[in-house]
Amino acid sequence: MPAQTNWLTSDLEHHLHPFSNARAMSDKRDVRLIERADGVYIWDGEGRRILDGMSGLWCVNVGYGREELARAAYDQMCRLPYYNTFFKTTTAPAVTLADKLVELTPAGLNRVFFANSGSEANDTIVRMVRLYWELEGRPERQTIISRTHAYHGSTLAAASLGGMSNMHGQGGLPLPGFDYIMPPYHFGLARDEDPEAFGRRAADALEAKILELGPEHVAAFIGEPVQGAGGVIIPPASYWPRIQEICRKYDILLIADEVICGFGRTGRWFGSDTYDIRPDLMPMAKGLSSGYQPIAAVLVGDRVANKIVDEAGEFAHGFTYSGHPVACAVAMKNIEIMEREHLVEHVAELAPYFHEGLSSLADHPLVGEVRTVGFLGAIELVKNKDPIEAFEPPVGRVGTLCRDHCVDVGLVMRGVRDSMVVAPPLICTREHIDELVDKARQALDLTLADLKQAPATAGA
Ligand SMILES: Cc1ncc(COP(=O)(O)O)c(C=O)c1O
Repeated sequence: MPAQTNWLTSDLEHHLHPFSNARAMSDKRDVRLIERADGVYIWDGEGRRILDGMSGLWCVNVGYGREELARAAYDQMCRLPYYNTFFKTTTAPAVTLADKLVELTPAGLNRVFFANSGSEANDTIVRMVRLYWELEGRPERQTIISRTHAYHGSTLAAASLGGMSNMHGQGGLPLPGFDYIMPPYHFGLARDEDPEAFGRRAADALEAKILELGPEHVAAFIGEPVQGAGGVIIPPASYWPRIQEICRKYDILLIADEVICGFGRTGRWFGSDTYDIRPDLMPMAKGLSSGYQPIAAVLVGDRVANKIVDEAGEFAHGFTYSGHPVACAVAMKNIEIMEREHLVEHVAELAPYFHEGLSSLADHPLVGEVRTVGFLGAIELVKNKDPIEAFEPPVGRVGTLCRDHCVDVGLVMRGVRDSMVVAPPLICTREHIDELVDKARQALDLTLADLKQAPATAGA
């Protein structure tokens, strides 16, 4: 690390940040150093304590400062810091974790393929799905249907699976073989419609798309149980049952991306448990190790796994660090902590309190809607509440302004378009939730004050 006074200059000169506007950061010399963390708090370079309402990037589910996880990594590094899982070899941590993941996930998911990130897990899935249909003698079943505002990662295939227009706008994406339907985004798309009727209509868009493409060309549908990075889009209850019905009707594989929803975030072990989804494939990452080590897994259902095991010969795919022993040991310890501290039950128990707390912000002049499930929440910011009116473009100006004010008052919330999203560590107590809500209100007040002063330029 360069001398304390030079880190900012070095960062701006040499470090290209993900999902960041380097020019704007450089011009405004706008980078924040995070120095340490403990529990639900992070501390920045100026010694300021900030409540991490985003668990890092939706991942530090067991909170920061867990020495047990550091010790698990240390012990494993001393015993066996690395060995691969290619060429008929395995390691105890990889086997133990695979076993545990099969136990925790819904029935029928009996095989595990390890990767290092959610993006790699989803790339793996694209290859598995296409291989499956090739082995079925249906190689024309190529297209995977996803949704607008979906986020499935940043590699070429994962970004193609995602439905983010800003990502597709760079680098010639999506690749061929991906298509999109509307998300079940009631507030954004149809707030005057009955939510359950809208949920069915949003799901029926899948059937319409399958018929448009021709069922013989469709390989799979992918969806996050709750769309996270797309703005915590919580589906109406009618949505997933109908989606599953349609997948079955047309014999389409179903992929539930659990990278955010997995490991307790929605108050059950997996979002698939919360919404009664029975997927054929389930990618997971983030909460698997609470972000202490990079690791991801694809849980593969019997239908796909048996085909690949029995008929593919060698599956020509894998990563140097697939099943990395240190990452697997840390993930295993992380799951042990979650079980010992009953963190999933804790989220389920406090979810109504979290909902009530966040919903208390609905009376704020800037808030058009609050929605939550488990420890996931979104606060929609609007220019006018009655009737609801969105801010003038560019979209995201007010969300970014509010996000920056959150940090000013000691809270991390993320801005997605002009909404704020939260996903605090699962160890949050009632007091932490109170603090989060208080600070969110302060940030909303500061945002409102800016907008009153200069309505169209604030945050620009
Ligand atoms: C649902 C979902 N899938 C996949 C990914 C990609 O994961 P990673 O950033 O580990 O590649 C993310 C990341 O936020 C995600 O939210």
